[in-house]
Amino acid sequence: MMKQSIIRGTGRYVPPRQVSNEDLSRWMETSDEWIRQRTGIEKRHWIPEEGGVGASDLALEASKIALKRAGWTAEDVDLIIFATLSPDIFFPGSGCLLQTKLGLASTPALDIRQQCTGFLYGLVTADAYIRSGYAKRVLLAGAEVHSTGLDISTRGRDVAAIFGDGAGVVCIEGADAGDGAGILAASLHADGAGAESLMIEGPASRQWPRIDEKMLAEGRHYPVMDGQKIFKTAVRRLPEVAGEVLRQADLPVEAVDLFIPHQANLRINQAFARAMKLPEDKVFHNIQKYGNTTAASIPIALDEALEQGILGPGRTAMFLGLGAGLTWGAVIYRFP
Ligand code: UT7
Repeated sequence: MMKQSIIRGTGRYVPPRQVSNEDLSRWMETSDEWIRQRTGIEKRHWIPEEGGVGASDLALEASKIALKRAGWTAEDVDLIIFATLSPDIFFPGSGCLLQTKLGLASTPALDIRQQCTGFLYGLVTADAYIRSGYAKRVLLAGAEVHSTGLDISTRGRDVAAIFGDGAGVVCIEGADAGDGAGILAASLHADGAGAESLMIEGPASRQWPRIDEKMLAEGRHYPVMDGQKIFKTAVRRLPEVAGEVLRQADLPVEAVDLFIPHQANLRINQAFARAMKLPEDKVFHNIQKYGNTTAASIPIALDEALEQGILGPGRTAMFLGLGAGLTWGAVIYRFP
């Protein structure tokens, strides 16, 4: 029989340095009031100012916790999937760097470059590997270091105000978990026509040199975002894709105990809750503490929801999100 993908352990890690909205207002024209009202964010965690910490380092800390909770050692992992838009270096991918930091010598590792939906694409990829029998125990990491790549002057304030650093890791095992457990439905989408709505352009392999003084002066090595466009697209697409996976799983909306949306903006997730007619406590929020940690936001939230006992045996969660790519998707998962 085909195995089901079961989450055996989760872990999260954020760097200790906290950056408040007040801190940001010392570097750019912004205010605590503006950031709270427009995004819900109160603070975020950033790596030390002097740098030296990459996405794989944050993922390593989260991995240690997730492995322990799963009761695995690193040697038990037979595939590493690393979701990030901020790899430690241009190449090789952060999956390889995490692999060696875990003390592994030949375990395969791959990176997923799907930004805010990296964890969703990663989960579906892990499930495909497990169901095909190619892998039995997958370590899926979502980790980002945004802070070293943000324009913290007033020019970059729309983006700099929202992003935080962090990592979330999930240990997934192929198991015979009985009917109705594991990934019950999944739907992934992409629309590359929207690529320029949220991107970092340089360094760019399509150019020679990949980055030059002019690009640096214009800030083209920083993220640019059409915030309103992304916001409106998310408010439209998230209820749509949630409906798709509910129909696929043949479940009523009430069957989902907790919705864990990507934490991009509190207002987006509140609009999603209204569109779905969900009571407030069915949608998980932690953007207040972490800002938008992109590929890490859903696994960090999942780890917290498990810790708080909101999720656990027999409970059903929906993970969903939309972001750069554009990409969007949703997954329904039931704990055995
Ligand atoms: O996770 C990846 C996907 N990304 C998203 O989901 C982001 C979605 N978009 C958003 O979250 C929102 O669009 C933002 C939070 C980025 C911006 O909020 P908004 O309500 O859409 O504001 P806006 O872009 O319409 O800007 C309103 C004003 C502008 O000033 P003017 O032109 O009205 O004078 C901006 O320049 O707010 C200004 N502004 C700021 N003011 C203070 C933009 N950023 C800031 C800031 N502090 N940090």
